[in-house]
Amino acid sequence: MQTLEAIAQRRSIRKFTDAPVADETIRELLHAATLAPSGKNRQPWRFVVVRGEKRAEMAQVMRAGMEATKAHGQDLGSSPWSVQIMEYAPVTIFVFNDALESVDEPYSIYDLVGNSVDVQSIGAAIQNLLLAATDMGLGTLWICDVFYAYVELCAWLGEPHQLIAAVAIGHPAEEPKARPRKTVEEVTRWL
Ligand SMILES: Cc1cc2nc3c(=O)[nH]c(=O)nc-3n(C[C@H](O)[C@H](O)[C@H](O)COP(=O)(O)O)c2cc1C
Repeated sequence: MQTLEAIAQRRSIRKFTDAPVADETIRELLHAATLAPSGKNRQPWRFVVVRGEKRAEMAQVMRAGMEATKAHGQDLGSSPWSVQIMEYAPVTIFVFNDALESVDEPYSIYDLVGNSVDVQSIGAAIQNLLLAATDMGLGTLWICDVFYAYVELCAWLGEPHQLIAAVAIGHPAEEPKARPRKTVEEVTRWL
């Protein structure tokens, strides 16, 4: 598959078959992620792969975190749906930024500027992973609803660093239509 084809064919997949994804395939996807460009070639991405029996525990931890968020009077957005997708997807990869500790720190300007660069680098890594998965016929969902259980998931995953996102991966059990996009004209000014 050509790059432009993979870009055009990628969809957010929210239904997966039970078919497992081999560790070697996951490794290939992670390798594609690590080929992304990064500010100063810092390669700030770190990955934690959750699969098999650990999925139920992950979902339990996430739901407990969501309950705590709800108890603080906050809306849960689409997280109840996302946690269900993660529970049944054969693989979920959590993506961290190893340049920044996770929470409760007063960040310096340097941290914030550096963080913005590192988060862009990690976004590129995630997109590489998504496109590589599309190329291999796999489906993916980029998930930020993990933020509704941020502290709980970081603690369970044993990660002191900033959680950026999770990506659910599996064999697609749906073929969603392309979601609408703003036109190039709508989002571009030419000088
Ligand atoms: C940074 C980011 C966070 C996202 N978080 C979620 C999420 O938590 N749950 C979810 O169902 N979809 C999530 N999505 C998927 C978007 O809803 C999806 O990309 C968008 O609707 C466009 O659809 P498409 O990916 O099929 O083109 C996220 C996408 C991005 C890029």
